[in-house]
Order: sequence, then structure tokens, then C-alpha cells
Amino acid sequence: MKDRFLRACRREPVDMTPVWFMRQAGRYMAEYRALRERYSLLEICAQPEIAVAVTLQPVDAIDVDAAILFSDLLLPFTPLGLDFDFVKGEGPSVERPIRSAADVERLREVEPREALGHVLETIRLLRRELEGRVPLVGFGGAPFTLAAYAIEGGPSTTYAHTKAFMYSEPQAWHRLCGRFASLIADYMRAQIEAGAQAIQIFDSWAGALSRPDYREFALPHSRHIFEALSDTGVPVIHFGVGAAAILRDLSLAGGDVIGVDWRLPLDEAWEVIGADRGIQGNLDPTRLLGPADGLFAAATEVLRQAGGRPGHIFNLGHGVLPGTPLERVQELARYVHRTSAS
Ligand code: CP3
Repeated sequence: MKDRFLRACRREPVDMTPVWFMRQAGRYMAEYRALRERYSLLEICAQPEIAVAVTLQPVDAIDVDAAILFSDLLLPFTPLGLDFDFVKGEGPSVERPIRSAADVERLREVEPREALGHVLETIRLLRRELEGRVPLVGFGGAPFTLAAYAIEGGPSTTYAHTKAFMYSEPQAWHRLCGRFASLIADYMRAQIEAGAQAIQIFDSWAGALSRPDYREFALPHSRHIFEALSDTGVPVIHFGVGAAAILRDLSLAGGDVIGVDWRLPLDEAWEVIGADRGIQGNLDPTRLLGPADGLFAAATEVLRQAGGRPGHIFNLGHGVLPGTPLERVQELARYVHRTSAS
């Protein structure tokens, strides 16, 4: 098995910088679009054989050093009683978003090994398929991001409902995030038992919070997850978007590796995070939409900032965008390997 990704998670020296891409499976790939003609996103996630095939598409096509489980952050919503669907061109839509303390109380108890057993089955099948190839990353959402989706009911630019709830109903907010924290901790342990070799916790919306609000309303719940996983020996990546202002606090919540976006230069981010953690990132995904010379120059700059220090995993600052040419992604992975080879 190519082990440079797991070695970098442990900040051990590597022969070249490991690389993988968030959303490396998805609409930019023709093979994925072809499958989506026949199945909805939720159908793909619910059927292990299909989810396995989609997970493997980028592993076969691109020289990546890790596979990421094909699933979605919001799958735990359905067993909780938060029915949702993906609306074409708009993203997720929750039927009855949480808007009151009573809505928090009506959430159902979830046993992830039963309710999300199909995801765990996908992981078990994937480990067989990936044998001798690359490690498998499992994932879940941080409590703040999950709570924000549950309250907004879909995408938002202001997070007005979420913040209004947080400030007006702090007890119900903490109960809601506490529910997500214990559910995700349990679900991540189940993913690890099923064979996930690393875990990434996505706090995609945490960057919307001020520093004091992150500390009060999000950090304790995220920390619960990292503490619950600390005895597993499996590396955990903690990723936030637009989180430069709260980066120190985000890293204090936990994570062996901190995932950062492009807004802060990687070397500055690493200084904030501290040399005792790894770092993942941080090329702007829109670079893949521009010409190759600009893409390679930007990738070189990321590698220069990492300075060859152990513990850097090359990734984008957020997911691959639809419309990205597959060729560019392939070239980028090869370029990162070639340029960083010792
Ligand atoms: O390759 C991979 O990275 C693994 C698969 C993966 C998906 N979702 C599949 C998916 C992962 C890791 C996720 C995580 C996820 N899901 C996050 C956190 C990461 C982030 O982007 O910040 C979030 C916020 C979600 C919720 C979600 N799922 C949204 C907001 C959307 C709509 C936006 C969009 O890109 O269309 C989705 C849909 C989704 N999940 C797609 C994929 C490949 C889109 C493809 C489709 O509609 O077929």
C-alpha cells in the first residue's frame, strides 16, 4: 500500500508529498455524471456497491495517495428524523428544519451501526478493493456545521437562523450540538471499526463564527469528538473553511492534522496551528479552472511554504468544483509528486 499519506498524518518523513482532493469523486468526472443519470445522490450513498464504484473512480484515474469514502455529511439526518433531499442546482433541503427547543427534543435516538450500516458496509467492501493500493479516509460533520444545516434547512450566506437560535436558545443549542457530537463520535468509531484508516471532520461553516462565539458555541462539542477518537490510534484531520480568524481555537479543539483553505498562506497557518500538528491544503480550487502554468506556479508556492517539513498533505482548500477538467487534476497530482520528490 502507498503509505505516504498515513506517514504524513503522523508527521513522519515521506519520499514525496502525499496528495488527495476533497470531492475527488463527483460531477467533474464523466463517469460519475453517467452514473448520476441513473441514480440520485442519496441512492448512490445507500447502495454500497455503487458507492464503492464511485469512490474508486478518482483512485483509478488520478495518482492520489488516499481514497475518500463516497457518502455525504448529512446522511445521519434521516435517522434523526430530519428528512432531507438534494435539490438540483440548490443543494440540500431539509423538510422541517429545526427552529425551536421542541424541535430538538423530537430528534430520535440513532444507533449508527444500524441506521448507517450501509455506509459501514461500503467501507468494508472498499478496504478489500483498496488492498495494496491507498488508505481509506472516512468522514463526518462537526457539530456546528451539522446544526447549522439542520437549522437553516439548506445553504445560507448569513446563517441568520442558526445564530438567532444559538443566541436565543443557548440551552437547546448546546443540547442539539451535544446530540451531534455523541452521534458523530460513535459513527466515526464505527467507521474506524469497519476499516477507515483516517478520519476527516468537516466544519465547513465554522468560519462564519466570531472567535468568542466559536469558543462558546462550537469548540466544546467538536472537542468531544476528537477526545472520543483519541484512543483509536487513527489519525484525525480537522478541516474548516474561511477559518483563518479562528484557526488557533479550531486546532485547540483537536485534530492530528488541520485542514486549511487558501485564504491564509500555508506557512502562516502552520505557525498558528503549531509544529506539533500536520497541515493539509491549501490550493484554491479555482486554480484548476485556469491555465496550467498558473496552476503549477500556485502549487509550487504551496510546496515552498510547506518547506519539505514532515506533516504536509497536499490538498485543495475546498472541494474540486464541477466543470474542472479531469486532465488538470491528473496533471496537478503528478506535478506535486514530481516537484516534492526528495
Ligand atoms: O469525494 C469526496 O470528497 C467524498 C464525497 C463527499 C460528498 N459530500 C459527496 C457529494 C463528501 C466528503 C461530502 C461532504 C459534504 N457534504 C460537506 C462537507 C464538505 C464541504 O463541501 O464543505 C457538505 C457541506 C456536504 C453537504 C452537501 N452535499 C452539499 C452542500 C451539497 C450540494 C453542493 C454541491 O456541491 O452540489 C452536497 C451534494 C454532494 N455531496 C455532491 C457530492 C459529490 C454533489 C454531486 C451531486 O449532486 O451528484
